[in-house]
Amino acid sequence: MVSQRFLPVLELVRQAGVRSLEQFGRLAAGAVEFKGDTDLVTVVDRDVEQFLRDGIAHLLPGYAFLGEEGGATAAAAGCAGTVVVDPIDGTANFVHGLPQYAVSLAVKEAGRTVFGVVHAPALNVTYCAEAGAGAWKNGAPIHVSATPCLIEALGATGFACVRAKLHPDNLPIFNRVIYLLRGIRRLGSAALDLCLVAEGRLDLYWEIYIQPWDIAAGALIVREAGGQVSDLHGGDAFEGGRQVLATNGRLHAAFLRDGVGTDAPPLSDSVGATLLEKGAPQTPS
Ligand code: IPD
Ligand code: CA
Ligand code: CA
Repeated sequence: MVSQRFLPVLELVRQAGVRSLEQFGRLAAGAVEFKGDTDLVTVVDRDVEQFLRDGIAHLLPGYAFLGEEGGATAAAAGCAGTVVVDPIDGTANFVHGLPQYAVSLAVKEAGRTVFGVVHAPALNVTYCAEAGAGAWKNGAPIHVSATPCLIEALGATGFACVRAKLHPDNLPIFNRVIYLLRGIRRLGSAALDLCLVAEGRLDLYWEIYIQPWDIAAGALIVREAGGQVSDLHGGDAFEGGRQVLATNGRLHAAFLRDGVGTDAPPLSDSVGATLLEKGAPQTPS
């Protein structure tokens, strides 16, 4: 069971999901904007994030807040906590009326995620986990699959068109892995992809140029469900390093060796120097 202190946070995220449903499938044309050439944002992304900012300020006063749409606010003196939020993970699905989207929220203390919730209101599913206590789907414990080998595994990945011009990209890995796995899905929400690994419906998920708010909650949910999460070099820098591999644990080493091979992009500390868009240095968005 989730401890008492996080139950109000869980409820807040559910309420955020209810707000998102009010416009799901009936977004007005003017409700969608472009953040860049291809990156969509809707009035709902902004509204849900503001709702969560206000709610967290009340429930966890003093905590820093990092949201995809509004950026970062600092923690109060003496507070080592941060709340990391993706108000709508799967915005393209949301805009197109596809239910595979989620509100994702992680609570971090002293740099470590202690609570994570991924709530998919249109699917009526809530995943959450608390460090050291387990992971749950709609209140019932979940566990990763026992799939023993890549050829029996169903995986997922993502290709964000907003980052399509960045190099190195995901294609060398994808092109190799497609022959190694039973199948690959591209479902459109990194947070939910991680939760599907956590509950054993998927056996693995990987992506590059991912952001902390996409994966902070889901990574804890996978680990608490018995799975393994790393960057594509096998280390722990999956949030800061902007790359993630989550598996049931049994497939991790094989995927890193046979799937990723030498095509893991550098961790983000050095990635700015190596990303190229039409020859010009880029910073990943
Ligand atoms: C995106 C989704 C998608 C993933 C992208 C993310 P957004 O988040 O998680 O599945 O492939 O990398 O940016 O933009 O819908 O919040
Ligand atoms: Ca996202
Ligand atoms: Ca988002």
